[in-house]
Amino acid sequence: MPPRRVIIDTDTAGDDALAILMAVLSDRLDVDGVTVVAGNVEFDYQVENAKYALRLAGADDVPVHEGARRPLLKDFEHADYVHGEGGLGGELFPDTGIPSADEHAVDYVLRTVREDPGEVSLVCIGPLTNVAMALQREPDLDDYVDEVWVMGGAVNAPGNVTPAAEFNFWVDPDAAKLVLRELDVTLVDWGLTLDASVLGAEAFDRFAAFDTAYADFFRTIAEPVREFTREEQGVDGATQPDSLTVALAMAPELRGAAGTYYADVDEREGLTRGHSVVDTADVADAPARTRVIESADADLFEELFAGMLEEGDPERPL
Ligand code: RIB
Ligand code: CA
Repeated sequence: MPPRRVIIDTDTAGDDALAILMAVLSDRLDVDGVTVVAGNVEFDYQVENAKYALRLAGADDVPVHEGARRPLLKDFEHADYVHGEGGLGGELFPDTGIPSADEHAVDYVLRTVREDPGEVSLVCIGPLTNVAMALQREPDLDDYVDEVWVMGGAVNAPGNVTPAAEFNFWVDPDAAKLVLRELDVTLVDWGLTLDASVLGAEAFDRFAAFDTAYADFFRTIAEPVREFTREEQGVDGATQPDSLTVALAMAPELRGAAGTYYADVDEREGLTRGHSVVDTADVADAPARTRVIESADADLFEELFAGMLEEGDPERPL
């Protein structure tokens, strides 16, 4: 199989950076470009973080396109409290000197998918503002993309930024609502993240023995997230939602159960802002087009991650 061409849309903090690393190091994916969207931390930190991750993987040639610096309509807050100031653990503030591509992220996405209809997939690991803006410009976007993988929402699970909402969907619920309505999305949600991608104390101990730049980067990023996760979610480990999304897009072997449903997002301000509902009861008179990954192999995910950190080979166990 030729590698799948992907564009990674990201609000690059630590977990995004590790996901970018995994995608670039994968032989099964060909990262066409990276587009940056407002989310985790201040936008310019996110841009540098993405460039740093690409350079670490030896992929300086992959263009970084800057996109939306704020959600479509809503005000929002960053998540520095999770990722540390700057997004990479609070001690690392890259200054790569790599210039961003001139083309705006949305123009780049539209040009790329129109040039090669059906050949480029979107892997969206941040708020969906850029994708929503692309849809506003090209209502038939679904005809031009291959697959659209989205890390977002909380299906049958409490949110992580409010009880109702996961961060990516909370930041820009208007964008999430539009994207789920207009595109055939494969969804990797916060509930699956907690089931299949928490790297716990044993994994940290295992990875501590890895003497590579990738493992050093992981330790720099993940220790503050581990501390936050332990204190706030009572789990001794670090969640990897974005790497799980990339891994699931890359490796069908990782996927368990999945179902396709109508899904909607509450875009109203208030306690339910960004709440995602998946119509598993099929009560809505609306098309079921969101494929929800409902289970994944947590042990295999850890092995993919270990292969990436130890040998720069995320496909080692496949
Ligand atoms: O809720 C988790 C998601 O929000 C991840 O993509 C994380 O990087 C943040 O963007
Ligand atoms: Ca993210």
